[in-house]
Amino acid sequence: MSDNFYSETSDSPKTEFDRSLRPPDFEEFCGQAKVKERLMLMIEAAKQREDALDHVLLCGPPGLGKTTLAHILCRAFGSEIHITSGPQIEKAGDLAGILTNLKHGDFLFIDEIHRLHPAIEEYLYPAMEDYQLDIIIDQGPNARSISLSLPKFTLVGATTKSGMLTRPLLSRFGITNRLDYYSPEELVIIIKRSANLLNVETKDEGAMEIASRSRGTPRVANGLLRWVRDFAQVRADNIITQDVAKKALGMLDIDEDGLDEMDKRILEAIIYKYAGGPVGLNSLAVAVGEDEATLNEVYEPYLILKGFLKRTPRGRAALPSAYRKLGIDPTGESIAAQGELL
Ligand SMILES: Nc1ncnc2c1ncn2[C@@H]1O[C@H](COP(=O)(O)OP(=O)(O)OP(=O)(O)O)[C@@H](O)[C@H]1O
Ligand SMILES: [Mg+2]
Repeated sequence: MSDNFYSETSDSPKTEFDRSLRPPDFEEFCGQAKVKERLMLMIEAAKQREDALDHVLLCGPPGLGKTTLAHILCRAFGSEIHITSGPQIEKAGDLAGILTNLKHGDFLFIDEIHRLHPAIEEYLYPAMEDYQLDIIIDQGPNARSISLSLPKFTLVGATTKSGMLTRPLLSRFGITNRLDYYSPEELVIIIKRSANLLNVETKDEGAMEIASRSRGTPRVANGLLRWVRDFAQVRADNIITQDVAKKALGMLDIDEDGLDEMDKRILEAIIYKYAGGPVGLNSLAVAVGEDEATLNEVYEPYLILKGFLKRTPRGRAALPSAYRKLGIDPTGESIAAQGELL
């Protein structure tokens, strides 16, 4: 299964399925209490002032609810949302087209905002700050700069890599909202809600079994739920019990901690090939046959969260629990012996 459930982006084919399970309002959006409270407060304040909402930045690993929150925000504010993404805006003209189409109070959602071209970012600064767009039209001797006034709009940016945003862009957002991984208890609530929408009976223990293997990520939880539902339909009597969930997830080679084949391959590579580390990201990527960005953004954060891995200035290193997970004696000769086999 490897990246099926969590390295998809918003425009992948599974989005349709995602959308049907997407909570429509703050009430149904479970978890992320701090972020939710802040956003609700901002909305209330802006509404009281009859003003547009301040620009909002949402960051965090894939599948935690950035796109969902952007839609909820816009709906709660009663505005219209215009959706685009960093790589889609190729020329200044594209941005001008989008911005000049906005009405007062509209939301512009830019997904993957860290992938905006630097030249485009330059145009965005005055647009965000002064609602002004200065563009150059024509070329050569006819080139001239014109300044357009824009309606007051709200930019909602989403990124999995806030570290890649430039300082000037970051500083133009009022506050940064960082989404965290969800607790198993929160995921149980999300899974039960989704199961309800999918019309499949789910026992508490069954939902917990799925939750604990969902890497703290609602999108993974929904993906696994869908698989367990299929399993329950064909191999059991349509009810997701703990036993059914265990069997179904066992078939996907996902263990009790939510680790899959690739996670284990990463830990094995560090331990066997690099004597436990530290090893640089690029060497590790080559060793496991995965690209650096996916390792860095998708696999490592969860391995770090679970205490299997740490990042050091000299690279990635395995922690004692990684040895235990793989059933290896951290001091033993078995490491050298098994390393020969890899
Ligand atoms: N708090 C939540 N409560 C219930 N469901 C959620 C929640 N957060 C996310 N989901 C579910 O998980 C799916 C993925 O969320 P979403 O697409 O918003 O993630 P994202 O952070 O935008 O991911 P990406 O970085 O890949 O774009 C949603 O379709 C929704 O069904
Ligand atoms: Mg998204």
